[in-house]
Amino acid sequence: MPVTTQQLIQWKQQGRAIVALTAWDYAIAQILDAAGVDLILVGDSMAVMLGYKTTLPITLAEMLHHAKAVCRGVQRALVVVDLPFLTYQESISQAIHSAGRVLKETGAQAVKLEGGYPAMVETITRLVQAGIPVMGHVGLTPQSVHQLGLRQQGKTQETAERIFNEAIALEQAGVFSLVLEHIPADLAMQITQKVSIPTIGIGAGSHCDGQVLVTSDVLGLSERQPPFAKVYTNLRATITKAVQDYATEVRDRQFPE
Ligand code: KIV
Ligand code: NA
Repeated sequence: MPVTTQQLIQWKQQGRAIVALTAWDYAIAQILDAAGVDLILVGDSMAVMLGYKTTLPITLAEMLHHAKAVCRGVQRALVVVDLPFLTYQESISQAIHSAGRVLKETGAQAVKLEGGYPAMVETITRLVQAGIPVMGHVGLTPQSVHQLGLRQQGKTQETAERIFNEAIALEQAGVFSLVLEHIPADLAMQITQKVSIPTIGIGAGSHCDGQVLVTSDVLGLSERQPPFAKVYTNLRATITKAVQDYATEVRDRQFPE
């Protein structure tokens, strides 16, 4: 049975942890889906796999192109697509237009966008009214890297309160789920207990309703990982070894036999 936004909310109520990872192409999406990942995010973090230093340069056209490939590989997981920088902040109609393209053209079920009070609360309210499921994202929001850096957010009482209030405001605006990125574990716990929609943490401790990581970090493909990522295998080393073995056999005329 395909995973739905309602299913995620039910899993929160049942205390079943939600497993999320990012994907940027057909092959990876197919592997993650078959392995039982519940939610696949076509994150704008794929900027890294395209050689960009930040997520800012990614365009809606690039996201649509990759999201279509991901959706072709997924049968069960809920697919959520990031709206890239400046494809939703300009106006509500820009946000509806961008999110609408994601739903109409890719087969994904939902969009994610960064930020909270006040501007995004209004935008998300309107998107949800238009029938577009939205995932929120607060704490560290990488599209604001030139304002925030990549530091942990919500460390002071004041900023923690702001993030807490943003989470509540986004729930009221109608998000079906909320990414909490790089905030203290007890702040993430307080938010998770307060809201009735599932929180998906990344660098936000173990009390969230689910966890997400960037797949290239998990697989050891990224050049560097954030401090909160866990590297489960070193594909850089595996690929290097395979390519070197191939090169040696070609040069030694051992392959093909
Ligand atoms: O782009 C991304 O991978 C994300 C996750 C870190 C939540 O937004
Ligand atoms: Na993102």
